Amino acid sequence: MRLSVIGCGYLGAVHAAAMASIGHDVIGIDVDPRRIESLTRGEAPFFEPGLQDLLTEGLQYGRLRFSTDVANAAGAAVHFIGVGTPQQPGGDAADLTFVNAAVDSLLPHLSEGDVVAGKSTVPVGTAAELAPRVSAAGATLVWNPEFLREGWAVQDTIDPDRLVAGVPSGRDGERAAELLKDVYRPAVDKGTPFIVTDYATAELVKVAANAFLATKISFINAMAEIAEVTGADVTQLADAIGHDVRIGRRFLGAGIGFGGGCLPKDIRAFAARAEELGRGESVNFLREVDAINLRRRDRAVELVVEGLGGSVYGKKVAVLGAAFKPHSDDVRDSPALDVAVRLNGLGANVVVTDPQAIENARRLHPQLTYEADRDETIRDADAVVLVTEWDEYRRELTPDHASTLTDGRVVVDGRNGLEASAWRAAGWQYYGMGRP
Ligand code: UGA
Repeated sequence: MRLSVIGCGYLGAVHAAAMASIGHDVIGIDVDPRRIESLTRGEAPFFEPGLQDLLTEGLQYGRLRFSTDVANAAGAAVHFIGVGTPQQPGGDAADLTFVNAAVDSLLPHLSEGDVVAGKSTVPVGTAAELAPRVSAAGATLVWNPEFLREGWAVQDTIDPDRLVAGVPSGRDGERAAELLKDVYRPAVDKGTPFIVTDYATAELVKVAANAFLATKISFINAMAEIAEVTGADVTQLADAIGHDVRIGRRFLGAGIGFGGGCLPKDIRAFAARAEELGRGESVNFLREVDAINLRRRDRAVELVVEGLGGSVYGKKVAVLGAAFKPHSDDVRDSPALDVAVRLNGLGANVVVTDPQAIENARRLHPQLTYEADRDETIRDADAVVLVTEWDEYRRELTPDHASTLTDGRVVVDGRNGLEASAWRAAGWQYYGMGRP
């Protein structure tokens, strides 16, 4: 099928490349000429495992093209909207400027029977508001939320665990759902659940999923806070409750909490939308989820201060990680970088390393010192702080090797990823999050 994807950020670029890889003829559109130039050269504009290969392949076989001109979307049967919905400056609600602009720019290029499929994460009610504009152009709007995880985006797009389509009632809606099924044919034929529902449910499925994941992380981090005053170990607690299949162990990783371009802004936008709807109290707990999450960053800083005897001033602190999670170069609302910035603010000589995110981190926080080499980062450090659990730091860095690089013997494990007993046995003072 011919498809267009409006917006070539994390979501759109991966979607475009993945759709081309399953055999569609795809044009990706973005207003940023630099991004389009880079994609046209076959260069992924950000680090996402597998994306580079899909781009090369799609461009080579002529199934994938990119353009800054939305007129080139004309002729596609399905037009995906994958632009960002960031947090409004000075508020919690989602900023829909880009969604509105994308839809408006597309309208003159739609043909009778086209489907416009919104993938961006939007406040419930957005699709119903956009639908009349799309219908007036002879097309049908569907809401098709995306559940991809950064770092696994290609796999999650090609082989998702479920597909959701919010469609209008009646023939147009039924037809649009069938068309969308054709787009995702390989996954549908494999038996992937394909849930056809109304707009509001589709929009809510997305924010509810992210709200649940954020709540799960903050739940275990709240347990970590209790563990810290009782001498309990939150990682053992998570293992033990995780054996209950109703609870499950995934997303019970206590540490410095969640960040990134999605969970933090999505829970805030959800709370803001619920308030607009007069149901603020229903999701008031999300404010608490947010507060617990942010407190864990303070806790990591406190542990470094404690480990260094009450002050970090003038001490070298090696910060392992800048990305908001491993397998990503994304530093948006990164807890790792936030911890580094706070330590720097306390007068520490902070050196940050990361296998992928240094460039992005430097752009955001040029005041920090960056070092590409892990061992050079650790060399002569008074404290080592693990904040993004890349394998290079979590699995491959042994305490014995670290001991050859520095006489400092303080390690703060902001992701509970290190083997505490091994580090202690090697003479290090080990501090975990919610662990004795
Ligand atoms: C999240 C959702 O997981 C995706 O399903 C969703 O599609 C996406 O947002 C989105 O809305 O676009 P992502 O932001 O890529 O995906 O990252 P996650 O894997 O959810 O991790 C979020 C944060 O939680 C990271 O900072 C991670 O380090 C942290 N985390 C995760 C924990 O602190 N503990 C855990 O146990 C798991």
